Amino acid sequence: MAKRSLEKWKTYKNVFDNFTIHNLDLLSGKGYFDELLSPIAIGKEANIFTAKAGRKRIILKIYRLENCDFNRMYSYIRADSRYPTLKKNRRGVIFAWAQREYRNLYLARKIGIRVPTPIHRKDNIIIMEMIGKGEPAPQLKNDYPADPERFYREVVTFMARMHRKGLVHGDLSGFNILNNRERPVFIDFSQSTTRDSPDYDELLHRDARNIARFFQKAGVETSTGKLLRELEKEEP
Ligand SMILES: Nc1ncnc2c1ncn2[C@@H]1O[C@H](COP(=O)(O)OP(=O)(O)OP(=O)(O)O)[C@@H](O)[C@H]1O
Ligand SMILES: [Mg+2]
Repeated sequence: MAKRSLEKWKTYKNVFDNFTIHNLDLLSGKGYFDELLSPIAIGKEANIFTAKAGRKRIILKIYRLENCDFNRMYSYIRADSRYPTLKKNRRGVIFAWAQREYRNLYLARKIGIRVPTPIHRKDNIIIMEMIGKGEPAPQLKNDYPADPERFYREVVTFMARMHRKGLVHGDLSGFNILNNRERPVFIDFSQSTTRDSPDYDELLHRDARNIARFFQKAGVETSTGKLLRELEKEEP
């Protein structure tokens, strides 16, 4: 069963190299999923697939070993204090990148941010919960909230909670927040980093700017400065 569906994707737009096909085989053999279903996004560096796992749907985020800007990845991850000795070789950087994203998801989940539950990681493959019922929930940019003010409040609460724990998302936008039945879910923690990293403040400002602008357009009275001040407030 699993084999058959892998055959189907083997040639899919050069997504899978032999190493990845081998890992997919191994992971399905271990029971993490039964078969790949469909690609939901072909991103800059990764391809995202839904897969069937028993009666559930899960997400596989598969970093391409070729066709990805590993120089960019290296420059980001080098600034992360958790990876001080990372060598600049392609596979090592991509595996560390996927590992870091997995760790970030785990950390965010632990402190109460709504994110997909991380299930497993192997080399360049991350397995996580699929957000959405039956099908993936839409990105916020494609599905504006019915009550932008309320949605915004929850986004700010998540950002503030992460900041208090010394974690910044680093790429927060209408692309990387899902609107799951009018509740925000943060995804794509590939650029997320910890407070002791030199680019922490820059990423925090960027997130605040993007989020303030997005919700301003949706009619919420806010600004980058206002949002940043909220992030510094103590938890009520
Ligand atoms: N757990 C999930 N549940 C539902 N949909 C998801 C999930 N993870 C990703 N997606 C969908 O796939 C899209 C791409 O995922 P993601 O943002 O993680 O990758 P990306 O932007 O391609 O990453 P990168 O910039 O690292 O290449 C998301 O915008 C979302 O629509
Ligand atoms: Mg993304």
